[in-house]
Amino acid sequence: MILILLGPPGAGKGTQAKRLAEERGLVQLSTGDMLRAAAAAGSELGRKAKVTMERGDLVSDDIIIAMIGERMEQPDCRKGAILDGFPRSLAQAEALDAMLAATGRGVDRVVEIKVDDEALVTRIAGRLTCAKCGSGYHDTFRRTKVEGVCDSCGGREFTRRADDIEATVRARLKVYNTQTAPLLPYYRQRGKLATVDGMGPMAAVEADIRAAVDGGKG
Ligand code: AP5
Repeated sequence: MILILLGPPGAGKGTQAKRLAEERGLVQLSTGDMLRAAAAAGSELGRKAKVTMERGDLVSDDIIIAMIGERMEQPDCRKGAILDGFPRSLAQAEALDAMLAATGRGVDRVVEIKVDDEALVTRIAGRLTCAKCGSGYHDTFRRTKVEGVCDSCGGREFTRRADDIEATVRARLKVYNTQTAPLLPYYRQRGKLATVDGMGPMAAVEADIRAAVDGGKG
């Protein structure tokens, strides 16, 4: 199964993709995580991407398409994948269709997670990640069980993303509305799109996504 989670920054794509990937035994592919890993490794691609990401702009289609194409050829993607943060432009969506068609596959379902702009800013401003295992938390909405200790690995160091400051979040929202939102009619016309309300608690959003994935049309 090839499933795409679509939505603005902070909508909960990463949170929900992780849950669904674990439940279905599928790989979660996050282009944002791949780019941050490249930046942390200090590769040339990573250094260039870091500057673009910190401005809130999109990294070029060529780089992203090559990166995801290479990743999707790995054996762990044969059963399928949950795409989180890709595609983000019409060129990327068309490239994905061509990539999948070459192996007799196609996109099965696209789930849009809809959240109000002000809620997005609040969510992103409070986001933190365990530096050791990458588990995601939120200052208000998803706190660790023991203050300052990661539930998953016991790590005590947490990081915040450089692009999570309010001005950059607002720039990322503009980019979403101009460059990524046109994917909604693209997938709607192909009968692939379902929209879920992303404003509720994480478990409620998860249940709605599960229903949208399993229940056919949204
Ligand atoms: P990327 O890493 O993909 O960031 P994004 O799309 O902006 O999305 P986020 O990761 O910020 O949010 P999310 O929707 O995953 O929300 P999350 O689950 O974390 O991309 C970063 C940058 O990389 C881009 O700006 C671009 O430069 C570049 N890039 C990446 N892919 C690219 C591509 N394909 N093409 C070109 N450039 C690309 O949740 C957010 C917070 O809210 C968390 O703290 C979470 O705990 C909390 N939360 C989640 N759900 C709920 C809920 N229901 N209620 C309350 N809180 C919630």
